[in-house]
Amino acid sequence: MDRNIKDEDWIVLGLETSCDDTSAAVLRSPGTILSSVVSSQFHLHRPYGGVVPELASRAHIRNIRPVVREALQQAGVALTQVELVAVTRGPGLIGSLLVGLNYAKALAYALDIPFVGVNHLEGHFFSSFLEHPGIEFPLLCLLVSGGHSSLYHAPEPGRYELVAGTRDDAAGEAYDKVAKMLGLSYPGGPVIDRLASGFGGEAVRFRLPKISDGSDDYSFSGLKTSVLQIVRKEGLSPVLSADRIDERILAILKGFQEAVVHQLLSRVESALPRYRPRSFILGGGVACNSLLRSRCRTLLEGEQGIGVYFPSPEYTTDNAAMVALTGAFRYRRAGGDALSLNAVPSLSLG
Ligand code: KG4
Ligand code: ZN
Repeated sequence: MDRNIKDEDWIVLGLETSCDDTSAAVLRSPGTILSSVVSSQFHLHRPYGGVVPELASRAHIRNIRPVVREALQQAGVALTQVELVAVTRGPGLIGSLLVGLNYAKALAYALDIPFVGVNHLEGHFFSSFLEHPGIEFPLLCLLVSGGHSSLYHAPEPGRYELVAGTRDDAAGEAYDKVAKMLGLSYPGGPVIDRLASGFGGEAVRFRLPKISDGSDDYSFSGLKTSVLQIVRKEGLSPVLSADRIDERILAILKGFQEAVVHQLLSRVESALPRYRPRSFILGGGVACNSLLRSRCRTLLEGEQGIGVYFPSPEYTTDNAAMVALTGAFRYRRAGGDALSLNAVPSLSLG
């Protein structure tokens, strides 16, 4: 390969199979997304109220070839034009990660091109840059998904310091568990968001958790238990039809959402004087949340004059476009990875 990655117009193929979505995207480096295809396994896992790892990896094996083919076709790019393969290597489900990683290695080997392993969390970090390449540093980034609720400080591109992490359940996990408890469909986040924001009545008030060692970490498991206690104490029955929901349940959902967003933003607020960020970005599935988005704007843009950026919904949940962009960035900095690179289910960032 005699081309230099610093040249413009590199064709990067991104692959993402860390959890339950099979995704491929084609990026013309430095930042033009030519295609982004996501095959969701939503219907496969829905009856179980959560992702079943074995079913997920088997579905990735079936889906990965057609998804890659579709992404190349939409981009108008032939496989032989791809110059770099970027793939998620962790964190995630080991069986799912291995499908994407091995597919990427085989492709890179066969085409004799470099490949680079990407941290899924760094991918979510970069997702805001897909549509807003000029975001200024230093910045604070809140990554909130089914597996993470983490606040990072990034003084410059590629450097991350964890400001607050997850103590127990992640924010998205709490949404999914509360939805399951109340008989609502999976994934719980979008359903609860819709019901809670559409309810005009008074919300149930939940207390903020106090972590005994005084740390600033996030904790959502107590909130989930409080919801369960109210449901049991008041003998509330699970929702049978999404069109006819008891007002008390709507009041609980509204209060739950208020409490999640309040907790997420309280850590952001207390980090502001210390880090003095120029920008704030959101990433991960929960970053689709309507209340979280509007409160971020009010708190940060309005009151503090900080630039606030969110990815569009298609780039907020798991997608390979963010992986392709992160892979291009990583490759430019440090070159490709060896074909012996392994998947790391508990990979962290910073
Ligand atoms: O980033 P993501 O697609 O997958 C993981 O890496 O986990 O996030 C999925 C999570 C699920 O827990 C889902 O319930 C949550 O994001 N979610 C939301 C919303 N949309 C998706 N949570 C709250 N409000 C939403 N609008
Ligand atoms: Zn994710």
